Amino acid sequence: MTYDLLLKNVKAFTTSGPFEGDIAIKDGKISKIGGDIQEQADKTIDLSGKYLVPGLIDGHTHMEFPFMGEVTADDFYYGSRAAIAGGVTTIVDFVTPAKGQDLLSAYEKWSNNADPKVVSDYGLHMIIREVNTKILEQIPEVINKGVVSFKLFMAYKNELMLPDGELYKLIKRISDFGGVTGIHAENGEIINELIQEFLSEGKIDPIYHYYSRPDIMEIEATNRIASIASMIGKDVKMYIVHTSTGEAVDIISSYRRQGFKFFNETAPHYLTLNTDFLKRPDGYRYVMSPPLRSDEQRTKLWIRLASGDIFTIGSDHCVYSDAQKKRYKEEVPPFNEIPNGVPGTENILPILFYYGVKKGIISMERFVEVTSYNPARLFGLYPRKGTIMPGSDADFAVIDPNRKVRISADVLHSNINYTIYDGMEVEGWNVMTIRRGEVVYEEGQVIGKKGSGKYIPGKTPILL
Ligand code: URP
Ligand code: ZN
Ligand code: ZN
Ligand code: ZN
Repeated sequence: MTYDLLLKNVKAFTTSGPFEGDIAIKDGKISKIGGDIQEQADKTIDLSGKYLVPGLIDGHTHMEFPFMGEVTADDFYYGSRAAIAGGVTTIVDFVTPAKGQDLLSAYEKWSNNADPKVVSDYGLHMIIREVNTKILEQIPEVINKGVVSFKLFMAYKNELMLPDGELYKLIKRISDFGGVTGIHAENGEIINELIQEFLSEGKIDPIYHYYSRPDIMEIEATNRIASIASMIGKDVKMYIVHTSTGEAVDIISSYRRQGFKFFNETAPHYLTLNTDFLKRPDGYRYVMSPPLRSDEQRTKLWIRLASGDIFTIGSDHCVYSDAQKKRYKEEVPPFNEIPNGVPGTENILPILFYYGVKKGIISMERFVEVTSYNPARLFGLYPRKGTIMPGSDADFAVIDPNRKVRISADVLHSNINYTIYDGMEVEGWNVMTIRRGEVVYEEGQVIGKKGSGKYIPGKTPILL
């Protein structure tokens, strides 16, 4: 047979260790993995000196996300191009129903919006912001559409926050149909009080975003939701999204040791940046929730990433332009009016590779686990995605382990003119992305076509 693509001299990394050899691809799938494949192929790529990993799965993006009165600046085209440039071959984006909208029509809207634009493949999660009979009824129906993971909010009072009773009801219902519940764990009631206190004292600078959301707000909410979910039972599959404190990770790990299927995600910015960034003149760019923490917390997160206590890395890609962040004014607005969110999908790979692997904190196996294998299992995409096996989609990121890059907006692909990692120097960079057997990114250029990405419906989450 003639293969479509043959990758020669591959050094590939999976969760079970590295292997060296060749990979042959046919019809978008991995067809054969071997020592020295001699059969014909339409196209051959020599990957000597590079590292091959499964295409990253960014399980946390907000493209065209309506939030805090703005819609995020990366639509599915810009956002998924940025993903592809960063070696992310699948994003899992949050369907965000409008107030009063039912889940199925929100799902339809989200996929109709994404399909003509996506360059990466994509899956979907469902945000639930209110509870009524119709929404409860539709939970199994959206799961049937392949939306097997959900997100509920314990913060953002008056916008997305749900009270404990509704959180309980929803986790139970989602769990009854085999879905996974993602939780934004921060105590929104108390945060709202703290925000009002600071504002009444005239304390409006971006750093008060951090002071109004102290570590304990995340720790308390994580503890509370873990208690509530544990009461429902051991079938509940839950993960805390964008965890920013070591203590919140430890709470979840302690439940896991008791047999609960509870997990944590963290994001690249919590591993690399600290609260000092909020004090800079451009501190408004660094407003996200939970907020950036201390260096001590950063260290705790790295340790827990290395130990396997942190299950996935998602970018929480939620991009606002400078103008949006400043609400179209000259002056920086009060901290509570700055739309929450930062870009990140393109930076998962270089940050984890340089600060994690190159600095000797995590292995390549762990890198693969948290960037593709675990998200694929959590979101029901495994084994189609998240591994290098015959029959799996031929999705790969090709890392040049020695490439030195100074990060700036110029080398990135989001629809904004800044990056929160400006000036950061890393060693190790994605130089080629292959999505279902097609080279969609090479040497700085996204060549994948608009709309060529596919919706990948989630199946049953596989969690040990
Ligand atoms: O600040 C953030 N994280 N914005 C996006 C919404 C969310 O909570 O994930
Ligand atoms: Zn062919
Ligand atoms: Zn959140
Ligand atoms: Zn988010």
